[in-house]
Amino acid sequence: MVWWRWFPLNVIDFSVILLILLVLEPGSFSVNSLAADAVNWSWLPHFNGLMNLVICSLLTAGYLAIRRGNKTQHPKWMVTACVFGAIFLVGYILQTVMLGHQKFPGDDWVRVFFLTVLTSHTILAVLVVPCIFVVLRLAMRGAFEKHKRFARVTLAIWVYVSVTGLYIYLMNNHVRPAEWHP
Ligand code: HEM
Repeated sequence: MVWWRWFPLNVIDFSVILLILLVLEPGSFSVNSLAADAVNWSWLPHFNGLMNLVICSLLTAGYLAIRRGNKTQHPKWMVTACVFGAIFLVGYILQTVMLGHQKFPGDDWVRVFFLTVLTSHTILAVLVVPCIFVVLRLAMRGAFEKHKRFARVTLAIWVYVSVTGLYIYLMNNHVRPAEWHP
């Protein structure tokens, strides 16, 4: 199988995502905000939150496809999830460089719970990246038995990372919005 056959992304997919972004943060895409010296990066956290939602949906679709025995659709969903994972990574690095970090406010159990989730999320997010490469490599070599065993664990971790990523985004930007610190 040629690798690009696994790749279902097309112009329509990208247009739909851009449209969602425009609806979420229309101001960010104005000509002024994109002016060279006054770029407004406030849309980035929303974009990254959206990426987590998209990744989670793609992983679910890929898993459902293989459970139904669809070996043509499964790689397509999964490779697309990897592409969006890479886009998220770029967005996250950009967010850290351009906006900095947020300190979660409060002094209660909500903060303790948040920090526990954040710690587990961060550790697993780092660990899952090499695992994804191994899963892809096993599939490309046709070692599907090994792929299946290793991929089940990797997929569980990846879904946890994307769901908690969404939780962290919601807490930081909507439930208890916090200041950005460089
Ligand atoms: C990071 C990307 C991927 C992830 C997370 C992933 C995940 C999984 C999981 C969890 C299973 C086991 C499903 C079950 O419980 O029965 C599986 C099976 C399978 N995957 Fe993937 N997959 C990925 C990429 C690919 C790619 C690129 C291919 C390309 C051909 C592929 C082909 C298969 C096949 C053929 C099976 C069935 C194996 C069998 O039943 O013997 N996967 N995958």
